[in-house]
Amino acid sequence: MSDGDEDLNRGLEGIKVAETRLSDIDGEAGVLTIGGFPVDELARSATYEESVFLLFEDRLPTADELDDFRADLAGRRAIGEEVQAVLQRAAEEGKPAMDALRMGAAAANLDAGAEDPEADARRVIAVFPTIVATYWRYREGAEPVEPREDLRHAANYLYMLQGEEPDEAAVRGLETYLNTVIDHGLNASTFTARTVVSTESDVVSAATAAVGTLKGPLHGGAPGPVLDMLRSIHESGDPEGYVREKLEAGERLMGFGHRVYRVRDPRAAVLETAAAEFYDEAGDSDFFETIEDFEDVAVEALAEHKPGRDLETNVEFYTAALLDGVGVPKELFTTCFAVSRVGGWTAHALEQLDDNRLIRPLSAYVGDHDRSWTPVDER
Ligand code: ACO
Repeated sequence: MSDGDEDLNRGLEGIKVAETRLSDIDGEAGVLTIGGFPVDELARSATYEESVFLLFEDRLPTADELDDFRADLAGRRAIGEEVQAVLQRAAEEGKPAMDALRMGAAAANLDAGAEDPEADARRVIAVFPTIVATYWRYREGAEPVEPREDLRHAANYLYMLQGEEPDEAAVRGLETYLNTVIDHGLNASTFTARTVVSTESDVVSAATAAVGTLKGPLHGGAPGPVLDMLRSIHESGDPEGYVREKLEAGERLMGFGHRVYRVRDPRAAVLETAAAEFYDEAGDSDFFETIEDFEDVAVEALAEHKPGRDLETNVEFYTAALLDGVGVPKELFTTCFAVSRVGGWTAHALEQLDDNRLIRPLSAYVGDHDRSWTPVDER
């Protein structure tokens, strides 16, 4: 077999390996459906708990079911002292937030004991915000804030991060984000989660491996650099110069391009609207104008740079604007993505377990055959 192997598909592009009812992407038309709803409708209307219930049960909960589901998740939020100690050490040693989340995720069922896959799924979803917020409080030299069971998922997350009850606009902004990115087809981290449970491993292992996959800049690591980029452009007032310099240096513009979308990522529109409302209320429309103007400049420059590749705005571009607006520190942007996407990862893991087949593709061997062994003293 050689690199020219006609069966070889680098990056599995265009290959379908699982059936799912969780989300559907039309990359040509720029349409994303989550649990049967257009992404903007779900993002605007749902609480995060409703989005998770929808993915798990394939329907919206009744009021009573929602109360029970919320209470169940809220009861699984606390972490033990040993996990806190690991997060403290990670913070004190300046480890990145995604590394801390990976360590915390791996310990998610330490305090919970052996449970069924759905209980494990609920536990990881519930505990992710606590892990991230605990790490962050230590990083800031503050004491961690205990989770509050009376607050809904998004509100409690901000409360634990900031140490005070957030206002409703910030909660709604964050919740819109959490709903928007909860699931997105068979992206790299979701594929990882499904691959892990396809061996009949467990949901906590699947979520832990997915955190590691999300960390990379080609997947979830882009919004931090996007914010740096936007701030530097806002300061210099020279978007054209910035873009020219980056592209001439052969660098990628963070927040643009996508493996599946050939048009503007529909999630960018949802987050743009949410961010606009937020910046408007916060009276910081100047920075937001810079962001919108820069988008036009970048898309135009990318079209000239790679004609025919359709490099359009992806979800990370307005993620940076919105999360910054609601007060999430940029060091936590990718962990915030994980706090949402863990709903999708676990729903996919449960879906995979329901109708499992071991995921085991092939590789194209490009090495030698029939070498003969030379003893070490003769090499
Ligand atoms: N800026 C400049 N050039 C780009 C960009 C970009 N953002 N994206 C792709 N290109 C170029 C590539 O350099 C490549 O050029 P080449 O053919 O000369 O090598 C060409 O366009 C095709 O790119 P691919 O690497 O084939 O695109 P792929 O589908 O593998 O990658 C990806 C998609 C990883 C998102 C890419 O567009 C990228 O790196 N974007 C910047 C990082 C980013 O925003 N990541 C977040 C993605 S969204 C998410 O995962 C939630």
